[in-house]
Amino acid sequence: MPCDDRCNTGIPELDKMLLGGIPRGRTVLVEGPPGTGKTTLAAHFLVAGILHNKNPEPGIFVCLDENPLDLIDEASAFGWNLQKYMDLNQLIIVDAFSGRLGIRPTLPFAVPVGKFDIKTVMDRIEEAQRSIHATRLVIDPISALLDELEGKERREAVLTVAALLSRLSLTTLLNSEMDAAGVGVERYAAHGFIRLAYNELGEKVRRQLRIVKMRETMHSMDIIPYVITGKGIELKV
Ligand SMILES: Nc1ncnc2c1ncn2[C@@H]1O[C@H](COP(=O)(O)OP(=O)(O)O)[C@@H](O)[C@H]1O
Ligand SMILES: [Mg+2]
Repeated sequence: MPCDDRCNTGIPELDKMLLGGIPRGRTVLVEGPPGTGKTTLAAHFLVAGILHNKNPEPGIFVCLDENPLDLIDEASAFGWNLQKYMDLNQLIIVDAFSGRLGIRPTLPFAVPVGKFDIKTVMDRIEEAQRSIHATRLVIDPISALLDELEGKERREAVLTVAALLSRLSLTTLLNSEMDAAGVGVERYAAHGFIRLAYNELGEKVRRQLRIVKMRETMHSMDIIPYVITGKGIELKV
């Protein structure tokens, strides 16, 4: 149930908890250890924008920790045809992965070999937004942009990202492994904060989601179990 001041995530139970979705133009940090479903949640969010009934909302996926071709393959297992959306100018995948490995990227809007820095990645996001009038953005994961920076340099990088996000007024998901709050992303750039986690119960491991913070939103503080199936993420509210 998309509404004007909210961006639906494509996960109905989560949208209900968020009064329709993520507040438009804001940035939400999605934090969780590997395998919890951050990339899947991000893909849900971009696909939901594109399939938005009245008004398709083009999106940008900044792919930092995996080959975009793998991302396209994994999404197809959930029934999402990212290549089609790219062909229709509804999606741009910014390849910020291949160049770092010294492999020449094949997609447009990629970060070239030897050019991996915050400014280049931010420039690609701006170019991508101009090209398809994107309104949604995913950076997966933001921690990959900050990994090798420390102290003042790291703070400056976080502020550069925060300033760009504020200027572009995209609705943004920043994915991160557990230490993102510690590096200041939460403090400077995030309007909301969703935590994905595992809970070990005897021999069983359950997935759990919690909305830690979402400004402008009276939300539940409950810990919500969820599953990942062939259709994506499903909350067990
Ligand atoms: N097609 C699928 N069907 C069911 N579960 C899947 C499928 N694809 C991935 N998963 C589950 O999702 C997990 C990976 O999710 P992902 O979004 O990549 O996590 P993260 O980005 O947090 O590392 C896998 O470990 C697996 O448990
Ligand atoms: Mg991932």
